[in-house]
Order: sequence, then C-alpha cells, then structure tokens
Amino acid sequence: MKKKIAWLCFAAPILFGSQITTTYAATPSDEDKKFEAYREAMADFNPGDFWIEDGEKLFHEKRGPKNVSLDGCDLGLGPGVVKGAYAQLPRYFKDTNRVETLEGRLLGCMVHQQGFNEEEITKPYYASLAEENGTKSDLVELVAYVAAQSNGQPYRVKLENAAEKNAYEMGKYAFYHRMGSMDLACASCHATPGLVLRGVHLPVMTDPATAGKVMTAFPAYVIKDANVRTWFWRNERCLLAMRMPFLKVNSDLDVALHLFQVMEASKTDTPIAVPGIKPRA
Ligand code: HEC
Repeated sequence: MKKKIAWLCFAAPILFGSQITTTYAATPSDEDKKFEAYREAMADFNPGDFWIEDGEKLFHEKRGPKNVSLDGCDLGLGPGVVKGAYAQLPRYFKDTNRVETLEGRLLGCMVHQQGFNEEEITKPYYASLAEENGTKSDLVELVAYVAAQSNGQPYRVKLENAAEKNAYEMGKYAFYHRMGSMDLACASCHATPGLVLRGVHLPVMTDPATAGKVMTAFPAYVIKDANVRTWFWRNERCLLAMRMPFLKVNSDLDVALHLFQVMEASKTDTPIAVPGIKPRA
C-alpha cells in the first residue's frame, strides 16, 4: 500500500503537467553531477560484484530436489555455455516453444532441471523488488553472474524466426500503446528528447545510442535499494508507475518489452558492462 501511494505521488503531477519539463540544453542536473563524482569514487568497487561471485557458486552447485547444477541449462549457446549468452537474449527456445529472457530461462532451468517449485522462487523474489529492499535473490545472483560473462561484448540480438518477430512487434506495440488508468505509454516518457521528471532526465529508449548505454548497464547495483536490479525490475517499476498490474518474469509482456528495447541497443557497439551502478534506477 505504501508503495502504491509513493507511486501515485510520483505519477499524479504528470497528469497536470506540472513536473515534466522540457530542457533542450543537455545540462546534467546537480543530482546527476553529484552521482558522477560518486560513480568515479566507486570505480574500483561495485557492491554488485558480490552478486556475481555468489551467482557463480550457485550456478555450479548441485541444488534443488533433483540435486543437479545448472551446467545443463541451455541459455541459447548450448548446455552450460554462459560466455556471450546474455548478449543474444531474449531469443526463441525450441524446448519451451517460447521467446525467453535470461531471467525467465534461468527460472525455467531451476524449475524443470533442478526441480524447484516455481512459486517458492518467485514469491520471495517479487517481494524483494519493493523499494529499498536489499534482500538477495538466487535468481538475481544467477542473472548477474551469467550477464557478466558477456562483459565487453555488444548486444547482438536478432529476429530470426516468427516467434522472435512477433515478440518484437508486441514489444513495439506495448511501448507506444497508452494503457493503465493513467493512460500513459512508455513512449509518453521515453520517446521524446529533453524530458525531465523531478530533476531526472528521462532516457529516450527509441534512440539506439541511449538504449545501448542504458541496456548494457543492467543488471545494476541500485544504491537506494542496496540491491542488484535486473532489466525485469526496471520494466516492472515503470509499469507500476503506469498503474499496470504486477509484471511476471518471462510473461509475454516482459519478454516483448525487453526484446524491443534490446533490439535498439543491438544497433550499437556499446559493450555490456555489468554490474552497472545507479543511484536509484
Ligand atoms: C510517467 C513517466 C514514465 C513512464 C510512463 C515510463 N517510465 Fe520508464 N522511467 C521513468 C523515470 C522517472 C525513470 C528514471 C527513474 C529514476 O532514475 O529514478 C525511468 C527509467 C526507465 C529506464 C531506465 C533508465 C536507466 O538509465 O536506467 C527504462 C529502461 C525505462 N524507464 C523503461 C520504461 C518502459 C519500458 C516503460 C513502459 C512499460 C516506461 N519506462 C514507462 C518514467 C517513466
């Protein structure tokens, strides 16, 4: 409830136009400048590195009712191959007949190969997504570890079959479509250059250079939450601001929005560099 009210306070002024401002001079806000200095100071130490270390252990450990590791999990490049896998996700998987994100694919392997109960993983995970909740989740540690094995590589997601093309089209539709009781689209906030909301410059996710910069920093350590947050979380937060229902990992909408935005990033050579570090998002 507290969370809902916080988002309402955040979102309500948009309706009355009092807080979205347009600045065409690309001057960073004072807050951005302060954060830049902080980011430099943190250059050699990102707390998110702990998530990667723990994720590596979890990946290779025999776990779950079936007592197997994730070395048999195919993330698109063959069972157990983690190097470069994140740079090519989301993609279509024949065995599930779905386009899947890294997070969704790992969740599927934990359920189908290791025998975990899906809800036992997702319930505490969804609870940990609340603001300022620093609870670590196995799933996020695993995502952080696998994603980091693509560090230095640019995204190279392709639309090679009908399922991937459909997911992309759905993502594009969802991005531009006004929805929820606020009647907002992602595009309302993320398709026009120069929008500022409460001192935060809104990234234009339809601009490949910006999408490249933003996407290659996820998963990221979010200082406000003292937790690592994934791409799923980012989309979830913004959907919540639009008063949409809670997003589910690997749902059609999750996959579609991810694919649409990562395709923009794939047009650039910006290398993946995770964990990113962010003040609040
Ligand atoms: C009401 C305006 C609004 C809408 C609508 C909105 N967002 Fe956002 N979005 C924001 C704000 C504000 C931030 C920055 C949050 C912060 O820095 O605290 C943000 C951050 C982001 C970021 C991360 C940028 C970064 O540098 O880390 C992405 C990606 C994003 N939104 C995608 C989306 C998508 C996808 C949708 C639609 C499902 C959406 N947003 C809808 C306001 C919005």
